[in-house]
Amino acid sequence: MNKTFTIFGGTGDLTFRKLMPAQYNITASNAPEKDFRIVIIGRRDYTTEKYCELIKDWVKKFARMPYDEDTFNHFCQRITYFKMDFSNLEEYTRLAKFYAEENLTEYIFYFAVAPRFFAVIAHGLRSVENADKGKVILEKPFGENLEAAKKLNEQLEAFFPAENIYRIDHYLGKEMVRNIQTIRFTNPIFANLWNSQYIESVQISAFEDLGIGSRGNYYDTSGALKDMVQNHLFQILSIVAMEWPEQFSTQAMHDAQLRVLKSLRKVEDIRDNMVLGQYKGYRQEKNVALDSNTETYAALRLFIDNERWWNTPFYIRTGKKLKCREMEIAIVFRQTFIAAPQNILIIKIQPNEGVHLQFNVKKPGDTDEITQAKMNFIQNSSYINKINTPEAYERLIMACIRGERSWFSQWDQIEISWEFVEHLKDLYHWNKLPIFSYEPGSDGPAEAENLLKRFGHSWIF
Ligand code: BG6
Repeated sequence: MNKTFTIFGGTGDLTFRKLMPAQYNITASNAPEKDFRIVIIGRRDYTTEKYCELIKDWVKKFARMPYDEDTFNHFCQRITYFKMDFSNLEEYTRLAKFYAEENLTEYIFYFAVAPRFFAVIAHGLRSVENADKGKVILEKPFGENLEAAKKLNEQLEAFFPAENIYRIDHYLGKEMVRNIQTIRFTNPIFANLWNSQYIESVQISAFEDLGIGSRGNYYDTSGALKDMVQNHLFQILSIVAMEWPEQFSTQAMHDAQLRVLKSLRKVEDIRDNMVLGQYKGYRQEKNVALDSNTETYAALRLFIDNERWWNTPFYIRTGKKLKCREMEIAIVFRQTFIAAPQNILIIKIQPNEGVHLQFNVKKPGDTDEITQAKMNFIQNSSYINKINTPEAYERLIMACIRGERSWFSQWDQIEISWEFVEHLKDLYHWNKLPIFSYEPGSDGPAEAENLLKRFGHSWIF
């Protein structure tokens, strides 16, 4: 094995919770991508044995493949814990020596660290022969703000070729997010109606029941808009709304998504377009300012300025400490001239995956009354059959190894959505609009309901 998957930030939450369980799955399912040594870079004084001991419980808890002692031992043989301070440039010669001694010559670097360390790591890697021919996976956020992100991007591109930089948006690895295009483009019953003439609104809801946990330091400077909307939800929005790509290639799809983001209508009156909230008790969370105005909830009403979508609002909402963990996309069709309930297509992304269609039928019996029928396709239940679907990080690691860039965000998409979201945030602030507080375990602030009610709509779930 001369290939290595090196993780900077090897003792962080992301590595424990997502990356190591994903790597375990890759070993356990005997995927060809198991053929990589895993080098864990961390400051703590661990041995490889100690590190493996540490990750065992995380693997047991979070890996989709069942835990098995032999497989786990086999997995541990892939791992080396390498103690170093990655912010100290002098330490990289030691790393280079280690790679050379172990005959490791092909590299994937995973930057699972705060963005302020990206540049220093890239700089340090100059000491490693051929590191610049390797690939790098970046974990979001890709900077602390748009300006910083642009600068960082330049610094990274000065070392790694642009096509070797993989920016993770783990929502792109979710099964049902990948499924949107198939549902949309291969079914004439949807493909032909996918526009403003037939669709009254599109709703994207991403509810989380957990709070910010131990991530106060990061979250309090980010908030829901940057943490969820600007990346994950805009990715989904652009897939739902894109035009038919000229071909189903990575670049054509990317260009089609980019055109959607460029067509987002400029918001005039922010009151009609955005509600921000904060859960009660947020300010008492660890590493959160006592007077913090960071939003843990955001609801938006957006329009896309093109022929297909000119008259269809896209409603987006996400929040922490809500009543459940559930994410879905609802396509709400317009009524026909006969007064009857609306057709609704729901694409369920998590925790259960599936497609639900609501349509009208006549009530049985001696009546002409109309009633709603619901057709449910449940593809997978994470409760029933965890093994079915590879997890997002597992797929994304494999996709990076295979060079499948369609599973990753590209810089121009990030830049445009970042600009758009920063502008909304500024408008909200300049208009001195409040951050509405909401009860943990609720649907979020009542004002988010009113945002739709004013326009005769309501949230679907
Ligand atoms: C991350 C955010 O990108 O996505 C987290 O930083 C959020 O705050 C998470 O909880 C949600 O991911 P998932 O896969 O659990 O929906």
